[in-house]
Amino acid sequence: MACRLLLLLLLLGSAAAQRASDLASYFGTKSRYETIHPHLLADPFSLGPPERGFPLPTATCEPIHLRALVRHGTRFPTRKQIEKLDRLHKELVHRRSVGPACRAADSLAGWKMWFRPEMDGRLAGRGRRDMSALARRLAARIPGLFSARNHLAFASSSKPRCLDSAAAFREGLRQAGHSAPADGRLKESFEVNDKLMRFFDHCEKFVKGVENNSTALREMDVFRDGPEMRSVVDKITRTLCLPAKRLDADLIQVAFFTCSFGLTIKNINSPWCALFNTDDAKVLEYLNDLKQYWKRAYGHDINSRSSCNLFQDIFKHLDQAVSESKSSRAISSPVMLQFGHAETLLPLLALMGYFRDTEPLKADNYAKQAGRQFRSGRIVPYASNLLFLLYHCEKASSPEEKYKVQILLNERLLVFPHSGETVASYSSLKNHYKALLENCHFNEVCALTKTG
Ligand SMILES: *[C@@H]1O[C@H](CO)[C@@H](O)[C@H](O)[C@H]1NC(C)=O
Ligand SMILES: *[C@@H]1O[C@H](CO)[C@@H](O)[C@H](O)[C@H]1NC(C)=O
Repeated sequence: MACRLLLLLLLLGSAAAQRASDLASYFGTKSRYETIHPHLLADPFSLGPPERGFPLPTATCEPIHLRALVRHGTRFPTRKQIEKLDRLHKELVHRRSVGPACRAADSLAGWKMWFRPEMDGRLAGRGRRDMSALARRLAARIPGLFSARNHLAFASSSKPRCLDSAAAFREGLRQAGHSAPADGRLKESFEVNDKLMRFFDHCEKFVKGVENNSTALREMDVFRDGPEMRSVVDKITRTLCLPAKRLDADLIQVAFFTCSFGLTIKNINSPWCALFNTDDAKVLEYLNDLKQYWKRAYGHDINSRSSCNLFQDIFKHLDQAVSESKSSRAISSPVMLQFGHAETLLPLLALMGYFRDTEPLKADNYAKQAGRQFRSGRIVPYASNLLFLLYHCEKASSPEEKYKVQILLNERLLVFPHSGETVASYSSLKNHYKALLENCHFNEVCALTKTG
């Protein structure tokens, strides 16, 4: 009896923090959308608890323009990640044939490697579903804009996972009933636009100063070699009965990704998850966040400023919709749906001042940053989406109040930094971003200066 109780306690103890679902909130950019919206696990089309203050009441305000920036859905690991995992797996298979029995390592050696190099970052079946479900929810949230008479302008990054995301989103709209009007002609357009969706590749100053610069991610490198990571690496090396120093932080990260890919792609609890407890997961999340922070967000000014073109383009179309509405013309771009990357959204959010912590994320302030705002898994999971919604409010008390904007991130209202409100008059928003609108110009910002 006592023995059975002990066994039960042991089982409970070991199961407590090692299941994928317990680690899921630390998967960073490899998080599934359901982690921030658990109600979608039961019903992917559910709109969940009502969002207070959204949308504005249709009796007074009519949505006239939507700009949606969407990160692609759940994807497979990249070729590089798959090759690293293959190396780690082979190491465990080899160990089993030459070393003494080791439960954790032998069980992983027996795991069937199901990733193939050609999966290389492509959209997974789950990712298609992420997109079609998102499309159906957005159409349900803003039905007026997604009517068949409105023109839909699609744009995408040239990466297959984004092109496939756009197609799956389109399919979701079709399922939601958005199909050709009576005259049979679909009012939609599609373009590949890397200048907007992959602006970072086109910004020389970013490529040279950050992407190609071996010291730009110094804080991440120092953390990777620091005490917190060291202790995770050492613990897992011991668990797998491998010689000291055989594993490095990179391989541990790949094992952690494999846990995340099991959950996001297949909705299974991968055996790789059992290597980690939540404290390990927090450390690995921080390592991932350091990378995003220094490469895509506040770490270097050029990261966010490289998104100036996209920022300007958003306001150009808002301006256009306002002026068309003022002169009672049809809105030429009522719905713009654009598919890109976490790397598209993060710099833009940073440019606009969101998720900025008072202290930068650094190698030596891990503990202090436990409550940070900048957690990439909350901001840019797969299928994350940033919406700019413009309303025309005919009966407003003053001309300034006639055009209003709401911004939603992942289907939740963002609070405007200048007012603390979740709705802003368009003129107050433009006024808040006046300096950026006047001075943030891609060509100047991204030009390499001739010095040095
Ligand atoms: C960045 O590095 C890549 C590969 O090493 C190279 O092809 C490219 O020219 C570099 N770009 C800049 C702007 O330095
Ligand atoms: C590389 O990054 C470091 C650290 O941010 C910076 O001081 C240096 O100027 C950068 N080098 C180039 C070529 O931009």
